[in-house]
Amino acid sequence: MKIPFNKIYFTGNEEKYILDALHSGKHCGNYSYGQKVINLMKSKYEFGEVYLSPSCTASLEMGAVLAGIGPGDEVILPSYTFSSTVNAIVLFGGKPIFCDVDPTSMNIDVNKIERLITKKTKMILPIDYAGIPCEMDEIMQIANKYNLIVMQDCAQSYGSYNRNKACGTQPHLAAFSFHETKNYNAGEGGALVVNVPEWEERAYFLQEKGTDRRLVLNGVKNKYSWVDKGSSYLLSDILAAMLLAQLENEEETKMKRKLITMAYIELFKPFVEQDKIKTLHPKSYQKINHHAFWVIFDTEENKVSFMNILREYDIAAYIGYLPLHSSPMGLKFGYKPEDLPITEDLAKRLLRLPFYTELAETGLEYCIDVMHTVLNKIYN
Ligand SMILES: Cc1ncc(COP(=O)(O)O)c(C=O)c1O
Repeated sequence: MKIPFNKIYFTGNEEKYILDALHSGKHCGNYSYGQKVINLMKSKYEFGEVYLSPSCTASLEMGAVLAGIGPGDEVILPSYTFSSTVNAIVLFGGKPIFCDVDPTSMNIDVNKIERLITKKTKMILPIDYAGIPCEMDEIMQIANKYNLIVMQDCAQSYGSYNRNKACGTQPHLAAFSFHETKNYNAGEGGALVVNVPEWEERAYFLQEKGTDRRLVLNGVKNKYSWVDKGSSYLLSDILAAMLLAQLENEEETKMKRKLITMAYIELFKPFVEQDKIKTLHPKSYQKINHHAFWVIFDTEENKVSFMNILREYDIAAYIGYLPLHSSPMGLKFGYKPEDLPITEDLAKRLLRLPFYTELAETGLEYCIDVMHTVLNKIYN
């Protein structure tokens, strides 16, 4: 049996909605299906305003413009993240200030943020790795104390909660991904959440190539004009139709994926108890969306052996992020690998296991059986 790392999942209504959008006569952004997705997202979660965009990457860029990130502004973020998180600020001249991670979550270590704040700090940019929320209460407290903007990279955490607050509802700005590798898939797609009412109108202009087209659509003006800087940060209605079908099925998808998390936790439990392996484990005050599962082995050698033997059984596991501070671009910013020793060490030993909705229906038992055999081979 072949177990890929990721696989697209259909909930049932995708084709119907896409065909409907296709024949509607309008395929552009902010149209009928787009509005339905926005309404659904806002009725389910207490988001301020929602802007559907081509990707999480684009949403992060919109956020950086709204926050006014400019040359020399410092932004504190984990090094353990995707290039899009950091590029969003580097594109506008911002300087990344990388913070080490908390080994229990692989998210930014909130106890190490304050010491990185200087007069130039403008923003904190945490991410929710593998769908586990970062410690937003503490992050917002620090941000309020120093008057900083918080943009939460929620690429992986749509539908997760921290202390009963849904991811994306607490910061000034939040960016979601609906890429095909995420729980809810539009092919490529994203959303920016703006929780600062004064920034909402500007976000519409920014999304519409710096024009006030929104005011024309709302019947306020006859002709739109160039009013601000901007770009084309819109999601086509055809992709929004796909996304609507996926999001309407959110809870069922989540329930299926939960079975995978539970099975993995159970499998690794004896090794966790013996302190040989650490795994993703939500805290008691977190409810997760079951996006992904990671395992940190005691040694890099054991990780590589596990991954290679799984490959012989046609099971794809994948290394996590390569830390940004020690990447070629990170080195250009003057970082050295030893600057963030915890991130550097954990990244070498972390492995991501196959995780996709259909796995809960087909293949999970096979996966667990093989992994059980391989673990015993390595550790006995
Ligand atoms: C933390 C994080 N931010 C941003 C992105 C980019 O998302 P997108 O492909 O929707 O641009 C990813 C992609 O996986 C990610 O993991």
